[in-house]
Amino acid sequence: MADSKSYNKVAVRLHWGIGGLIVLLLAFGFLMDNVPKDNLSLRVTVFNWHKTIGLLILVLSVFRLLWKLTHKAPAPLPGVKPWEKLVSKTVHALFYVFMIGMPLVGWAMISTSRFPSYLFNWAKLRIPEMPFWQGLDKVAKTEVHEFFAETHELMAFAAIALILLHVFAALKHHKAGKDILVRMMPGYTRKTD
Ligand code: HEM
Ligand code: HEM
Repeated sequence: MADSKSYNKVAVRLHWGIGGLIVLLLAFGFLMDNVPKDNLSLRVTVFNWHKTIGLLILVLSVFRLLWKLTHKAPAPLPGVKPWEKLVSKTVHALFYVFMIGMPLVGWAMISTSRFPSYLFNWAKLRIPEMPFWQGLDKVAKTEVHEFFAETHELMAFAAIALILLHVFAALKHHKAGKDILVRMMPGYTRKTD
């Protein structure tokens, strides 16, 4: 088991699992609009899988937040400047806002759409719509839908910037000889202090 200077096993698995799914969905999200509009069946399949993976990220991230709140994180790395600690804490908090907020905005988007969505692209598993906008007329619903679609896109760009900053910081500390990467590695056990 990892010691208190490392993230625990569950936190490490959630970090890389959710991180991988997010990178996949960011790429998937921007590419999926290129599926030809006349190939409706492929388009619907790709979009439904995007939504399914997005909702999986939501479930995993809520669990991750609860895990984080109930388990101690390792102490900050020695030699990290106070402003670096502040930036890293802020970026980590923003990641949680994104990991939970992005799928919720996606869900709000499909709740104001004219088309139904299905988990695993399976006709028996319709994704329930959020109740909040169901009383609106068609025009108002379309406007709300546009708002969520734009928010979803803006959040995607903001997330890419955050990820780049996060990776840059991790690699910078790693290059400076700090044990930052190993404490977020699967199965890592520190042998010495
Ligand atoms: C979408 C991608 C990613 C997200 C959302 C993400 C999110 C996070 C969050 C929230 C933390 C704080 C620990 C926690 O609260 O669980 C963290 C820590 C960490 N991440 Fe990521 N991460 C991502 C990708 C990466 C990548 C690609 C790397 C590799 C360079 C990386 C390296 C690390 C390291 C080394 C830590 C530990 C930092 C420390 O010890 O203070 N992350 N990440
Ligand atoms: C962390 C999770 C998610 C990420 C990283 C993500 C990422 C993206 C990206 C990059 C796009 C393309 C940019 C755009 O046109 O808006 C997109 C589009 C879209 N996403 Fe997501 N998404 C996530 C979760 C969800 C969820 C949970 C749903 C629905 C349940 C969803 C529904 C959609 C839809 C319908 C579009 C097409 C928007 C349009 O063409 O106007 N997304 N997503």
